[in-house]
Amino acid sequence: MSLSRRNFVRTVGLGGAGLSTALIIGRGREALAFEGPAVQALQPPDDGLIHIDSNENARGPGQSSIDALHRAISSRVGRGYPPDYVRDFGTVVATRYGVDAGHVIIGTGSGPILEAAVRAFCSPTKPLVTGSPSYSSPEGAARRIGAEIRALPVDRELKLDLDAMAQAASGAGLVFLCNPNNPTATAHKLTSVEQFVRRVKQDSPDTAILIDEAYIDYVYDPAVKTAIPLTQEFPGVFVARTFSKAHGMAGLRLGYSVGQPATVRAVAQAWSLDSMNTLTAAAGITSFRDTAHIDEDRQENARIRDFTLQAFRKMGFEASDCQTNHLFVDLGRPASEFRNGCRELGVAVGRDFPPMEKTHSRISLGTMEEMRKAVGVFQKVLGKATNV
Ligand SMILES: Cc1ncc(COP(=O)(O)O)c(C=O)c1O
Repeated sequence: MSLSRRNFVRTVGLGGAGLSTALIIGRGREALAFEGPAVQALQPPDDGLIHIDSNENARGPGQSSIDALHRAISSRVGRGYPPDYVRDFGTVVATRYGVDAGHVIIGTGSGPILEAAVRAFCSPTKPLVTGSPSYSSPEGAARRIGAEIRALPVDRELKLDLDAMAQAASGAGLVFLCNPNNPTATAHKLTSVEQFVRRVKQDSPDTAILIDEAYIDYVYDPAVKTAIPLTQEFPGVFVARTFSKAHGMAGLRLGYSVGQPATVRAVAQAWSLDSMNTLTAAAGITSFRDTAHIDEDRQENARIRDFTLQAFRKMGFEASDCQTNHLFVDLGRPASEFRNGCRELGVAVGRDFPPMEKTHSRISLGTMEEMRKAVGVFQKVLGKATNV
C-alpha cells in the first residue's frame, strides 16, 4: 500500500487516532510500532522495552503544539521556500530574551549547535575544556577535528568543578559548561556561573564559553537561572537550548543558541545549521509561548523524580542532586551489570558514563506508569523488594 495522503494524515494523528502522535514526536530516536501496514513498513518495530536509557520526554509535546502541527499541515508545505514560520521562530525567541534576531541562531536540535561550536572555536592548537562525566558530544566533535580535550572530573557532589575548569581554560578554544549537567543531574547557581565566566574571560579573553541549558526547564532551585543575560555582556559567551526535553519535541529536531551577533554568526558559519522545517517551526513557536505547559511538565517530572528517588532510597541507594529528567544513582556496582539485569526484564537504562561506570547508573525518567513498572524491575535486579 502506498503512503497516501490519508495514511499520512493518520500518521500525524489527524484521522482522529491521535494516540501516539505525542509519544512519537517526543521520543526522537525511539522505534514505535504504529497502526497501519504502510506506516509499519516505514517504522522499525517496537522492541517491547521500557526505554529510560536516553533523556527524552516520555510525555511528548503539549496539546497546543500538536494542534499547531495539525494546522500547519496542508498542501502549503509543498511551497517550503518562503519559510515564514522559520523566520518567526527566531523572532519569537529573540523577543523573549529582549535581543534582536541577529543574536539568535537556530539548529535542527542543539546537537548540531554543539558540533558547530567546537568547530568554530577549537582546533589542534585550541583545546576543548569540559567536565567528566558530562554530555559527550562536544568531546566527539573535538576528536573529529584533532583538538585536545581537557576533561575535568566532577567534584564530590558530582557538580562540575568550576574552579578546575577555570584553571584549565587558559589558552583553550572553548569551555563546554553543561548546566544542569548530563549525566550527573547537578546544577550550578547563576551567581557561580557568572563568577566563572568573569574569571575565564579575565584570564583568557579569547576562550569561548558555551553554556548548555538543555535541562534548565526542570531545575527546582530558583537560584539556578539561565545565563542568557550574561551572553550579552561578553563576546564569545553563548547559551544553547533544545526543544528535545521539556518541550517534548526530540523527534522534531529543534534547538537554538543566543549570544552576541559575531559569536553566534561564527558558530553558524562553522557547520550547516539552517535547515529547520516549517512544521517544526510552527510547533516550536507554539510550545515556546505555552509556558503553562512547560510548568505542568516540570511539575509532572518532579513528581516522577521524587517517586523514583524515594524508591531507590528505600532500597538503600542515593542519587546525586537531581535538577533534570534523569537520575544518576550510586548503585555500588558496574552500570553494565545493572543494565543487563534490567534489560532481561524489559527495561532499558542508560549506558556507561566513564569514569563513573563502575558505580553509577543513569536512569532517565519515563512516564509515571513506566517508572512504577521500572521500579519493580529495579527491586528484582538489585535484590531489594520493598513496598514503594
Ligand atoms: C546536555 C545536552 N545537550 C544537548 C543535547 C542534544 O539535544 P538535541 O540535539 O536533541 O537538541 C542533549 C541530548 O540529550 C543533551 O543531553
